[in-house]
Amino acid sequence: MSADKAQEIIKRAMADRDVYDAMAAREKEVWGKILPDLERSEAGIEDARASAMLGIDRHTLSLIGVAMGKKLRFEHGLVLGCGAGRLDRELLRWGICGSFHGIDISEKAIAAAREFAEEEKLPLTYEVADLNSVELPEKTFDLVAAQTTLHHILFLEHVAEQAWRSLKSDGYLWIHDLVGETQAQYDPKRLSIMDRILAILPEKFRRNKINGQLTEIKCREPGQLCSPFEQIRSGEIVPVFERWFTIEWKREFDAFLCLVVPRGTRAAYLENEDTKALFEILMLFDRLCLEEKIVRPRGGQYLMRPKSVHDLPAKNTTSG
Ligand SMILES: C[S@@+](CC[C@H](N)C(=O)[O-])C[C@H]1O[C@@H](n2cnc3c(N)ncnc32)[C@H](O)[C@@H]1O
Repeated sequence: MSADKAQEIIKRAMADRDVYDAMAAREKEVWGKILPDLERSEAGIEDARASAMLGIDRHTLSLIGVAMGKKLRFEHGLVLGCGAGRLDRELLRWGICGSFHGIDISEKAIAAAREFAEEEKLPLTYEVADLNSVELPEKTFDLVAAQTTLHHILFLEHVAEQAWRSLKSDGYLWIHDLVGETQAQYDPKRLSIMDRILAILPEKFRRNKINGQLTEIKCREPGQLCSPFEQIRSGEIVPVFERWFTIEWKREFDAFLCLVVPRGTRAAYLENEDTKALFEILMLFDRLCLEEKIVRPRGGQYLMRPKSVHDLPAKNTTSG
């Protein structure tokens, strides 16, 4: 039933410009606040440190790691949904890419990204634009990266086609995103696993230091997530992009861990050897759920190559 409601939201937003514009205005407002706040918040910084110490991302590999492993270097890159510019600054710092252009719908996030770039005098340019309708220059970039952005995109077909057009033919596309259930309409098996774990966890592991709330997992009504386009078509990201691109390398991860141990709750697991062991057991159980195919992965990283024009299926059309 909820899955039908989620599809209804998608259909209305695609068909009615006023509905779309109202959702986009709200989306900008939410992300213009969350991202700059997170970059500068003490709880956010402490949590990022705790995440690194726990190794919560150990089953993922950053684009830096993948590029280094494959000895890839890029001249000019594009970041789709760059937010406050976290990824572009990191890739520059590691020498993976020489310069970047970043696009985001949020003026505030772009202002913050520009400020960071100016402070550090980095070769970064930015633009406020909506990816759902953006027209990108042809064959311009060696790398297009979309990190935790595509799960906000309604017109995925349009973005996939634009990314394909904007890449040089020997270029690469990097996607790191939520690829699980559209609009977080969790599979009942996933929900049941998460609820049972949270019922066992003492409060200190459920208290979120960033937002002050207690972690609880509810299958929220479609349209009631943190922003209007949150995970709007996340389950379709990979199949849509595979029409224009071929997957060269991939890693998929996260059965429940990032929901049961979200950002803001992680420092509690560093308290002592016992709490660290508890985290390791959660991590192991998460991995086993994927290995044994109990649930599908919620996250994925994909390094893709653009298909040649002859290999594009004729039915590839932009619906945006
Ligand atoms: C979860 S944040 C990720 C930001 C950044 N990639 C990072 O890793 O820090 C998602 C970003 O996508 C942007 N976004 C959402 N919808 C968009 C759209 N239609 N066009 C451009 N950017 C969009 C948001 O403003 C936000 O900055």
